[in-house]
Amino acid sequence: MRVDVVILPSLLTPANLAGKTAVVFDVLRATTSIAAAIAVGVRSIRIFSDIASAAAAAKAESRENTEEDPPLLAGEVAALRPPGFDLGNSPRQYNSSHRGWRIFLATTNGTRAIMAASGAATVLTAALVNAAATAKFCRSLGADVTLLCAGTEGQFSLEDFIGTGAVLAALRQTGEITVGNDAALAAEALFTARRDQLRATLASGHGGHNVVAAGLEPDIDFAARLDALDVVCRVEDLEITAVI
Ligand code: MLT
Repeated sequence: MRVDVVILPSLLTPANLAGKTAVVFDVLRATTSIAAAIAVGVRSIRIFSDIASAAAAAKAESRENTEEDPPLLAGEVAALRPPGFDLGNSPRQYNSSHRGWRIFLATTNGTRAIMAASGAATVLTAALVNAAATAKFCRSLGADVTLLCAGTEGQFSLEDFIGTGAVLAALRQTGEITVGNDAALAAEALFTARRDQLRATLASGHGGHNVVAAGLEPDIDFAARLDALDVVCRVEDLEITAVI
């Protein structure tokens, strides 16, 4: 099984996706929050590239579909809950009261990165919190794997990179792998060197500074909890559900 790391969506090539399992990381915070939502039993998360389209789709749904509860709107602008939205982008906001609900989610980098991976045979989202569960599922699929970092507004993100390293290291525990490129080599080396200081590593990057500046530092604690959640999140037709 060959494993490549792609450090930004803009660097993806068709060869990174064709026939492969793509796993998308936005550790601070979209893919950590997706794992948290799926872990409490959220039924599905539909992703949107921006908050206006998410809001418009939710409005159209509530007009057209009177049979079931309307979706909850979730997302962020500059890390904060947009006006009129039910939820922000914090992994800590999800609890048992959200079980069975549908979520419409739009975030600045994460949801767009997930969309960018849509040419892969299978698309998953992952973070440090569900690294081992995701690696195990990738191994069961057997296809080569591309680990994609969302980055932050077109720039490299340390937290996404270390997240890919965590899944790479977990994949190695499940059997043989071929490290496909230098980014994968570096990601695994970073994770191995910093696995006992994950919180400090997340906090030290630009994304971590943004989360702290928004007054949401406990989200970093949540995101740094390696393998705390035994969930696998699969994207099909822009909708994320649990792999059961
Ligand atoms: C994003 O998608 O840009 C991030 O998840 C931002 C955030 O921390 O809310």
